[in-house]
Amino acid sequence: MLAQSGLENAARLLGLGFLVLNHSPIVVARVVEGRNLETPTNGRQVIKLDTDWRFWHSFENLDGITYDQLKAYILPCANDFITNPSDHYQRPSSEPNITVQYADKKFDDSNWETVKVPHDWAIKGPFYVGADAPVGGGMGRLPVQGVGWYRRKITVEQGDTDKAIYLDIDGAMSYAIVWLNGKLLGGWPYGYNSFRLDLTPYLLAGKDNQLAIRLDNPMQSSRWNIPTNMFQCTQYPGGGLYRNVWLTKVDKTHVGQSGTYITTEEVSSSSATLNLAVSVDNKANFKRDIHISTDVFKLNLETGKTGPKIASFPRASVSVLPGQSVDSSSSTIVQNPQLWGVWTSQQPSMYIAITKLHVGADDQVIDTYETRFGIRTFDPSSKGLLVNGEHVRIQGVNQHHDLGALGAAFNVRAAERQLEILRDLGVNAIRTSHNPPAPELLDLLDQMGFLVMDEIFDSWEIQKNPNDFHLIFPEWHEADLRSFIRRDRNHPSIYSWSVGNEVGEQFTEADGTAVAQGLVDIVHETDPTRPVTASMNYAKPNMTFPTAFDIISLNYQGEGIRDTPPYSHLPGITTPPLYSAFHSAFPEKLIEGSETASALSSRGTYIFPVTGEISAPINDTSGGNSTTMQVSAYELYTANFGSSADKTFAGQDPYSFVAGEYVWTGFDYLGEPTPYDAARSSYSGIVDLAGFPKDRYYLYQSRWRPDLRTAHILPHWTWPDRLGKVTPVHVFSSADKAELFLNGKSQGYLAREKYSYRFRWDNIVYAPGEVHVVTYKNGKVWAKATVETVGNATSLRLTADQSSISADGEDLAYITVEVIDSKGRVVPHASNNITFDVAGAGELVATDNGDPADLTVFPSKQRKAYSGLALAIVRAKTGEPGPITITASGANLKTGRVVIKAL
Ligand code: GAL
Repeated sequence: MLAQSGLENAARLLGLGFLVLNHSPIVVARVVEGRNLETPTNGRQVIKLDTDWRFWHSFENLDGITYDQLKAYILPCANDFITNPSDHYQRPSSEPNITVQYADKKFDDSNWETVKVPHDWAIKGPFYVGADAPVGGGMGRLPVQGVGWYRRKITVEQGDTDKAIYLDIDGAMSYAIVWLNGKLLGGWPYGYNSFRLDLTPYLLAGKDNQLAIRLDNPMQSSRWNIPTNMFQCTQYPGGGLYRNVWLTKVDKTHVGQSGTYITTEEVSSSSATLNLAVSVDNKANFKRDIHISTDVFKLNLETGKTGPKIASFPRASVSVLPGQSVDSSSSTIVQNPQLWGVWTSQQPSMYIAITKLHVGADDQVIDTYETRFGIRTFDPSSKGLLVNGEHVRIQGVNQHHDLGALGAAFNVRAAERQLEILRDLGVNAIRTSHNPPAPELLDLLDQMGFLVMDEIFDSWEIQKNPNDFHLIFPEWHEADLRSFIRRDRNHPSIYSWSVGNEVGEQFTEADGTAVAQGLVDIVHETDPTRPVTASMNYAKPNMTFPTAFDIISLNYQGEGIRDTPPYSHLPGITTPPLYSAFHSAFPEKLIEGSETASALSSRGTYIFPVTGEISAPINDTSGGNSTTMQVSAYELYTANFGSSADKTFAGQDPYSFVAGEYVWTGFDYLGEPTPYDAARSSYSGIVDLAGFPKDRYYLYQSRWRPDLRTAHILPHWTWPDRLGKVTPVHVFSSADKAELFLNGKSQGYLAREKYSYRFRWDNIVYAPGEVHVVTYKNGKVWAKATVETVGNATSLRLTADQSSISADGEDLAYITVEVIDSKGRVVPHASNNITFDVAGAGELVATDNGDPADLTVFPSKQRKAYSGLALAIVRAKTGEPGPITITASGANLKTGRVVIKAL
């Protein structure tokens, strides 16, 4: 629900993208699968290793280590995910013949930086400037490259000697190599995947153990890691231990890594059959006879707590030989299940299965493992996607993994805020472009009722860049793919796996199709319940490549690429709209737009003249300004291969079989600042990097939430230099008719034609005052909006997205600053310098304003407003409850202040 606050209405009237949402806190899964943090005494203990890390980074490879040199020791870590035992890797019998001083227990790291994990070493900057920067705009101009070392002590109790002890890393960028007490344990090269290492063989019980982790981001090591002179489609990878790291202590006989798999069948509102597979690993040196029990409880999504028990699986017994793993399967029936559903027409409901391993006559519990899951049906077909039998149109966005000013360092509240803003917009689906997401993001998506296309790779055997994943694809693709599917397959929100994005194999017909088929087969073996896809920007309906997939996912091709006159002068391939041709070739398959639009804009910036077309590429005479590095927010301009939202909608609506789309992108992201490489972040988001909606937000909202009574006018109406000049006025609304008034005088009625998505009065001549629109639906007034000419900036107004936050050192408050005039109206051109101060129980983490060209470092206390707005991100100090006062001041402006509480 939209909050109908005066503030929001005022902002909307001014045509500005500030948004206040009703914040109903989601209790985020602090309990990730298998990590029953709240119940540590039942056999399994999971400890978050977040504090006390020592960190050191160098752009040079000073230790001289390479992955290739040590890969014989790293590859065996893949074995658990390689099904054919003859393909397993053997660890060499002797230790590597190298001295690694940073891994040595005795190494003095006292002058290294102390950091908290998740940590992204690059996000604090500074931004590189200039055309010959080592890292250009493509990767966000931030220092991601080089080698980073993390060291931390782990204390293991005497009593832990008989336990299995694992290090679980949710994501480390990249080429992780891990030592314990100077001994090489192994590692995992793909920086987006989660992995586990067994610490047990090298642990010294009752003592401090020294962990050392080396990460390496070589230049050109991924599509997201290329130098400026190779500027092309790139994004920001981040660097370091950018997701959570855990220590798991458990009995030597335990539920294996991602060791439960729950599927459902015969689902109806009266009952559902649950099938459970549990794999039990025995690392003890004797045989174990185990009884497995699993009870199913309702999961209370409000509190995050376990609710009433609703079913039990029959107890099972297994005998597991030393060093072996045994799978056990059972089924049960749930009566009157509450189905997991997709927002908005359905609601998410979830369950939690608690599996216990018992031994001996007294039935002692030696392990407890929690699995969250949902009961629902997905039925993908050429008619679209049915969820629980109801047709749900995919209203999706692509999301890159960075969290704006926080970089790649994962934070639950930051991700939740993004999803709240997207949900208000009407988004119901997320594509995790193009990599495995943080596990907690999937928990949020489950709990908030989003659909997910969970994607793993951006390249296979064929390179996009010289040192990208293709180098390790032959040895790692099976392990990466299987571990990813096993990790994520219990999430009810995932309706489809994607094994690739725009891969080079599209071009090689039989060879590429064989690679695709191999990946699809691995997925089907690991999860037979979901369809597999890969996004195609080149493969055509008559080629073999698309035959490998269950779902047809098209990047830009559905609506056509450079197929209309404004794009005809551009180099590059021209593709006619292909939805229909793909549907004819694959009449049974679901077809979706996995990347659509790539429309570009800078929030609140309007550039004249305005094209009369519905979609146009950008140059200095068409929607762009290469000096200020801004793109017009009339929302008509696109990447050279892209389409505006209007053209995209018109390309989909004639075909009822199109299941929906994923817009490129929901939020702006770091890197890929097409069309201005000298900038830091993208222009493609419907929402800017700071989380402020652009005008396009209201265009998508009028389509995706047509019942919302809204009308949104653009541009703002404060143009002292445009007196007497043509200044087009466009209105986004789900209404079918509208009348525009300038200073009380009607500028005429417009009716919305079929396949047109905005009201546009292109000949309005600017005069200060007031623009007002009255929209109608089915002959009745639908929504009205007004935009006024505002006065000079006088004050700063602060609003917090949460009035209280947890004093846990993780929760965040997002503080919006508006530069306002004497009547409290946002000044749309305002770019005042603002200085932030945070006092009391909190600290400033970062500031931003959503300007892709602003190269002020994110942790800065000073930030210019951009189009009237700025943002501060504030964190409470750990264990220090109390008030936090955030102040923003600027020359000749009345200081703004807001107080929140840390609880
Ligand atoms: C696509 C690509 C995305 C992103 C996008 C930019 O071709 O799959 O990763 O680069 O272009 O618009």
